[in-house]
Amino acid sequence: MFVAIKSMGLLGLDAFPVVVETDISFGMPFFDIIGLPDAAVKESRERVRASIKNNDIDFPDGRIIVNLAPADMKKTGSFYDLPILVSLLSASGKVKEDISESAFVGELSLGGDIKRIRGALPMCIAAQKMGIKRFFLPAVNAPEAAFVDGIDVIPVNNVGELIGMLKGNAEIKPQRRSIPESEKTAFGIDFSEVRGQFAAKRALEIAACGGHNILLIGSPGAGKSMLAKRLPTILPEMTQEEMIETSKIHSIAGELTPERALITRRPFRSPHHTVSTAGLAGGGTIPTPGEVSLAHNGVLFLDELPEFSRAAMEILRQPIEDGTITISRANASLTYPCSIMLVAAMNPCPCGYFGHPTKKCTCSPQQVTKYLSKISGPLLDRFDMHIEVPPVDFAALAGTEGGESSKDVRERVNRVRRIQNERYKDTGFSCSAKMTPGAVRRYCVMDDDARELVMKTFDALGLSARAYDKILKIARTIADMSDSDIIRTEHVFEAIQYRSLDKKYWSN
Ligand SMILES: Nc1ncnc2c1ncn2[C@@H]1O[C@H](COP(=O)(O)OP(=O)(O)O)[C@@H](O)[C@H]1O
Ligand SMILES: [Mg+2]
Repeated sequence: MFVAIKSMGLLGLDAFPVVVETDISFGMPFFDIIGLPDAAVKESRERVRASIKNNDIDFPDGRIIVNLAPADMKKTGSFYDLPILVSLLSASGKVKEDISESAFVGELSLGGDIKRIRGALPMCIAAQKMGIKRFFLPAVNAPEAAFVDGIDVIPVNNVGELIGMLKGNAEIKPQRRSIPESEKTAFGIDFSEVRGQFAAKRALEIAACGGHNILLIGSPGAGKSMLAKRLPTILPEMTQEEMIETSKIHSIAGELTPERALITRRPFRSPHHTVSTAGLAGGGTIPTPGEVSLAHNGVLFLDELPEFSRAAMEILRQPIEDGTITISRANASLTYPCSIMLVAAMNPCPCGYFGHPTKKCTCSPQQVTKYLSKISGPLLDRFDMHIEVPPVDFAALAGTEGGESSKDVRERVNRVRRIQNERYKDTGFSCSAKMTPGAVRRYCVMDDDARELVMKTFDALGLSARAYDKILKIARTIADMSDSDIIRTEHVFEAIQYRSLDKKYWSN
């Protein structure tokens, strides 16, 4: 008896169709899996055998060969348990339901419980595109898959339930879509809690509007971490497309839960400075996405930047520029997206008080230089904006002046981002920070005075072509914030302010 059951495979962010072909013939008891299975897939035999036995079903007699087609693609992971089980049930005549347009993925426990898998969302998206009508998967993964239109997602908890349905004795209702509860709740922190610091807040608002990378420099206790942690509260809303893209990555990393089945808010990832390069970039025998990819369409925040290892900082350089990261392994190299806004905070020197208005810095000039040189030139260059966070004065701290709430700021940010989404809709990027050099020429139209100011600055500061583009991108965002199609002097003037700190600290 021969049967073919549809399933899926995963290669990075993409899923591909896999057919589980099972042949049972007369002969000595034998059970093997072929078709480039890895160790986890090979072990499937034992889980399938035990879960069948433990659900009071006879394991089929004879010689069983399971082939995972296409045979030239490597099969990794434990989610072939479920289709293999279904193929055995089907080959021994226990399935009455029509499953020709169904696909199955899921890991089994020995007792027959169906356990959580990684990558359910990208697999379901691919299954729908292939014309599959019903997608059977672990119940815990069903909420994330349910965000795909045009396919019924069938949640299964255990083998007993599944068999009941396949025999036609019971029904399992397709998973309904629900907006994750935790995503609806408030942040618990707010911009208005930050007293004073209006310049820093303004800079963060600009950065949020245009998706610009920003570096915060200031003495300890100035409020750098406090400010950065409140950035998520003013980030622009995600588009539907961005939600799905980001959720796919979190699905593969196994980070989605039934309560948080879809990422509807821009991620804010804040890895500790002891993070490994694999933790940042992604890795493992089956390479899973790292922090930089988990931050896709959101923020990667590196607090205490100089404390990160040189290797960690260097590995980020290219991905930040490209918006994608490639992880190479012996037998595969996978590419994950990582279009992020990079935010970092640092002290200006080892003691922290270099440049402080009242406290005296106790570091020698060499110590300061050595400390600052931990940030390499090319990495420094990735920051579009630099901002100094001065210690907040007592009057501001003691006063009640907190300023605007995050909600009010966020409304403005949303408006600006909508302008940018609309302007860049056919370009492949969605905010000013991601403009290509060609796009900068096209979209950053200045009036004469603004152009003259840029030219003068260019000569006076000895700017690189890249720095020039960055100024124009920031000026573009600032102009959008004041509803101006043309970039004017005041926009350029403000943009230049955000490029002057590297001269102050890194001039030699
Ligand atoms: N502008 C401010 N308004 C209110 N509290 C502040 C402000 N700046 C600093 N603080 C207080 O000081 C603490 C330390 O700030 P933090 O963000 O950790 O500083 P940094 O990261 O610059 O060393 C904060 O948790 C907060 O309680
Ligand atoms: Mg801090």
